[in-house]
Amino acid sequence: MKKAFVTGWPIHHSKSPDLHGFWLKQYGIEGSYEAVAVEPENFQQFLKNLPKSGFSGGNVTIPHKETAFANVDHLDKAAKTIGAVNTLWLENQRLCGGNTDTYGFSANMDQFAPDWEHGKTAIVLGAGGASRAIIFSLLEKGYQEIHVINRTLERAENLARLFGDKCHAHGWTSIPDLMPKTDFIINTTSIGMAGSDVSMMPDLSTLPKSAIVTDIVYTPLETPFLKSANDLGLETVDGLGMLLHQAVPGFEKWFGIRPEVTDELRQHILGLT
Ligand code: ATR
Repeated sequence: MKKAFVTGWPIHHSKSPDLHGFWLKQYGIEGSYEAVAVEPENFQQFLKNLPKSGFSGGNVTIPHKETAFANVDHLDKAAKTIGAVNTLWLENQRLCGGNTDTYGFSANMDQFAPDWEHGKTAIVLGAGGASRAIIFSLLEKGYQEIHVINRTLERAENLARLFGDKCHAHGWTSIPDLMPKTDFIINTTSIGMAGSDVSMMPDLSTLPKSAIVTDIVYTPLETPFLKSANDLGLETVDGLGMLLHQAVPGFEKWFGIRPEVTDELRQHILGLT
């Protein structure tokens, strides 16, 4: 029986066991996917033990993604660029680490707003780990101007430096100037997450009518950011699909079948919230 896990600290809120459990059942695979809580001080040892643990691999979430990055034998290109690992697997007893957030973001956009690939100028709000993965996706798609906007300017500057001359850092005050020439805007901050502070919500009314708007937050599914875009008649994509799609490459590596992201799966995960 093949076994996989998701590890974090804490881990009880993770939707990954339901997501992978749905696919295991759907494809009739004799396998398991379980949540394993590992305290930060024990995580390196957990990684060391993995080749002999009986697991084929697993997912890594907060706060272990950077430690995983620093302690695997091999990194894929996305993990190298992002500086964080969210997926582990074994190849000939070698521990490999990848990052599937970039894939998840792109696949979600391909599914729900395929026109995103024609854009040239994007705004990315936020400068954390998710922002990095998304900037990488935008560059891969051929975006020419990526404006990273963050409450703490220094973090945006660090990201822009990392990604080179197509990436520009700004503070929040630049938003009004940038909006009218933006094809695609992505919120990677926690603004609008259930119960969070929305005082810094940007005004989207000067975006071009053809602009695409997405949010990586999916609780609630229609965040205040997406609601404001929907009210303006703009094309929007919610963040749930990124979660579902980023799980695909890991499942394929551990269980040998490339699973599909269907509406049935979406409804199943939505039913749990
Ligand atoms: P992740 O790795 O999931 O992207 P993170 O590293 O905690 O998460 O980053 C969260 C992002 O949301 C940061 O860009 C943060 O801004 P700061 O760098 O200034 O902290 C941003 N953020 C969080 N709450 C915010 C709020 N209420 N208004 C604006 N930005 C916010």
